[in-house]
Amino acid sequence: MNTSLALHCDYLIIGSGAAGLLAAQHLAEHGAVILINKGEFSDSNTYYAQGGIAGVADTSDSTENHIQDTLIAGAGLCHENTVRKVAEAGGAMVRHLQALGTPFDHDEQGLHLTKEGGHSHRRVAHVQDATGRAISETLYHHVQNDQRISCLSQHIAIDLITSRRLGRHHGHNRCLGAYLLNPEGVIITVAAKATVLATGGAGKVYRYTSNPHVATGDGIAMAWRAGCAVMNMEFIQFHPTCLFHATAPTMLLSEALRGEGAHIVDEQGHRFVFNYDPRGEMASRDIVARAIDHEMKKQGKDCMYLDARPLGVKKILRHFPNIHQRLLDVSIDMRQSPIPIVPAAHYICGGVQTDLAGRTSVNGLYVIGESACTGLHGANRLASNSLLECMVMADACCHHVKNEPVPPFHMHLPCWDDSGTMPEMDRVQIKQNWDEIRATMSNYVGIVRSRHLLRNARRRLALIREEISSYYWQHPLSRDLIELRNLCLIAELIVRSAQQRKESRGLHYSTDFPNTNSKEVHDTIIKPEVL
Ligand code: FAD
Ligand code: SIN
Repeated sequence: MNTSLALHCDYLIIGSGAAGLLAAQHLAEHGAVILINKGEFSDSNTYYAQGGIAGVADTSDSTENHIQDTLIAGAGLCHENTVRKVAEAGGAMVRHLQALGTPFDHDEQGLHLTKEGGHSHRRVAHVQDATGRAISETLYHHVQNDQRISCLSQHIAIDLITSRRLGRHHGHNRCLGAYLLNPEGVIITVAAKATVLATGGAGKVYRYTSNPHVATGDGIAMAWRAGCAVMNMEFIQFHPTCLFHATAPTMLLSEALRGEGAHIVDEQGHRFVFNYDPRGEMASRDIVARAIDHEMKKQGKDCMYLDARPLGVKKILRHFPNIHQRLLDVSIDMRQSPIPIVPAAHYICGGVQTDLAGRTSVNGLYVIGESACTGLHGANRLASNSLLECMVMADACCHHVKNEPVPPFHMHLPCWDDSGTMPEMDRVQIKQNWDEIRATMSNYVGIVRSRHLLRNARRRLALIREEISSYYWQHPLSRDLIELRNLCLIAELIVRSAQQRKESRGLHYSTDFPNTNSKEVHDTIIKPEVL
């Protein structure tokens, strides 16, 4: 049985990736912060980021180049004002991270910049091939040593508490905090003046993903249930080069490998991506992932290959020691043979509709980082723009939050009501529904879509949703049950958004509408029915 506890703070931050950690550090200057994550500190997309963070730092490059590259990748849907603000902050953000202690790689010329697909210049600052880990550890070091921040690991947010849900709102709906489930199975009611969702992506909605287990779209689902609109959820980025292996978990092979000279080849060693785009391996991800998917289907193969041998042993060991070691652990020596690859779900360009300060339509609720959709990425994200967006949003959000007046606030909120729940449920049903959702999304809503496949996916997901609803409220909550409900909602929102887009653009490709349509230059916005 779940029982209940209560806490309160000025700022509740849900998620301790780049966005949440930086927000915690800033907001601690202005009040008491509770920072939670549902796993361990290292369970975040941020921690696994490899390539680096984009930021102009070379005199041969310019912010205008970065802006243009981002706009081109975004295929006509980027919000130019957002792109400008983020790109303009790039260089300073890298310097700020460096000042905090991030040990970015340097060479004789200064900061070493690598190159990734869609970038016209070298502009990605990195720490070997484990940039996310270095940034996370740097930020966490500051947060952990700050007495004003209470860090709670293994605490999963279940749902937001809003004035509308409590029947307390007069005019505007306001977020008052959240319910959390702790590792002992106790439900905690947290009252907060402002709540910041920094819960990251939703890669686990697909069977093959570069994302860690925590990426189940919880924040987007919670915000939707609280009344927030979602935007551009159809744009799921598949990373072209993830390890294909019978037993090893999916692992990313950084795009920086291609930036530094690795080739994508078929079994015969033919560099086929040039048949799809004159930029070859350095075309943007949507193009490269589709080329690989197409060749796999055409040639009837389970995978293609990434050949890193052109880099030479010295560069592999200096720039990519972690990838090299992890591959050796599964008996692949990238110095000697091509690496089997498949595209895998990597990043969700859509999310909760916000401005760059993370503001949502619910007062006191902010969404930042990958869970948010600011219009920066449009229909396709440019590599290494995501960590930058997390930082810029965390900064802008905190600036706004600290200046926002909070109306008279009742710290007393009702406890979670679990009366009438039956004993723990059989796990097999949860597993079955998880597997079905992920199979449906992978088979019907992957890199290539069609009206027919989307219709089928929608029907199946609706059935799964009904099944989940029939048992969700009847049993004590557990982490996988909470995630399952969220995952199903996210899957449905992706499908509904994809159905609305009657064209192919960026990451959304439909065989029924294979061309881009100039009448479809708009965001896909879906609003929840008001409760
Ligand atoms: P995350 O870093 O994902 O953090 C989410 C946090 O929310 C976690 O702490 C998690 O525990 C917590 N959480 C989630 N749900 C709940 C809940 N219900 N309750 C409590 N806590 C919850 N981008 C780049 O710019 N450059 C790169 O080189 C790069 N490489 C990447 C490599 C990989 C393998 C992956 C997966 C992504 C990569 N990306 C890269 C994308 C980038 O890492 C992410 O978009 C970004 O780090 C997201 O940061 P975030 O703070 O929004 O979320
Ligand atoms: C990579 O290193 O390939 C990932 C970069 C990104 O997702 O931005």
